[in-house]
Amino acid sequence: MVSRIAVTRTLPPLGEQMLDEMEASGAYALRRWRNDLPPDPASLSDLLADADGAITLLTEKMNGQVFDRYPNLKVVSNLAVGHDNIDIAAATERGIAVCNTPGVLTDATADLAFALLMATARRLPEAQRYVRDDQWKTWSPTLLLGQELTGATVGVVGFGRIGREFARRATGFRMRILAFDLFPDQAAADEIGATFVSLDQLLAESDFVSLHCTLTEETTHLIDAAALARMKPTAILINAARGPVVDTDALVAALRNGTIWAAGLDVTDPEPIRSDHPLANLENCLVVPHIASGTIATRNAMARIAIENCVAVLTGKPPVACVNPEVLA
Ligand code: GLV
Repeated sequence: MVSRIAVTRTLPPLGEQMLDEMEASGAYALRRWRNDLPPDPASLSDLLADADGAITLLTEKMNGQVFDRYPNLKVVSNLAVGHDNIDIAAATERGIAVCNTPGVLTDATADLAFALLMATARRLPEAQRYVRDDQWKTWSPTLLLGQELTGATVGVVGFGRIGREFARRATGFRMRILAFDLFPDQAAADEIGATFVSLDQLLAESDFVSLHCTLTEETTHLIDAAALARMKPTAILINAARGPVVDTDALVAALRNGTIWAAGLDVTDPEPIRSDHPLANLENCLVVPHIASGTIATRNAMARIAIENCVAVLTGKPPVACVNPEVLA
């Protein structure tokens, strides 16, 4: 029987090639949204009509109401490790498997978070603008002074796969590593040389605070005005997790009034932001457009896993990664 699969965006090259081959095999009927912007609601509806499986992105809100409109759906395979765009309970209730792409993006994401740390600590965006604006007149002992990395204390909030790899990078700078996680894995902390502490202690003692937790009700606005007030005025906040983990208004105020020194953000709330948003205009805030996993190799690997997950569920095989495996039992 031919399986119908909806694909809600142009995928990275390997993914497009795999989809072409699937179409050519005749075993799959694909509805592909070949566009770099998300489908509008009517187009999404056309894509999903009669679909047995869907390969989705973070931009597609998949909840009970959506699932009820597409009763054939057996799998929603997200091209991401995060799945906060999908109501997992609603999917599970309806027997729909939700798959994601963990593992393959861990290093690329940790790298980008560390790049944000280095760029904000050493004020690289400001420095580049300084040269472009022809302000560079001489060597100056007081020019664009930043924060020291070596030997600093870094606080890792969310000590899962990505948080741990980020921490491993910090060991190369001989940093002291503090960690906070709702489900602390002591063996992982011991291996890297991190110390689990309370969130309050982490915020108070860290020179860099890097967020790597999943977005849940508990972590929404985990970093609010009170949390920012606990941080050092010289501290830098890095967010490569999800925008709503940070209260945006509180962050803007903290960056404006010097409560903290700087922020480096791969994610924002809302997302995207426009160039007139305060976060895009503060000299001490570096924002990049949610590109942490964006290397060619990693995005190809994510596409491969997302497709393999979808095909596996539709052919009764175990997917590489499933968030609610109980529906497959
Ligand atoms: C990207 O943010 C992801 O969750 O993979």
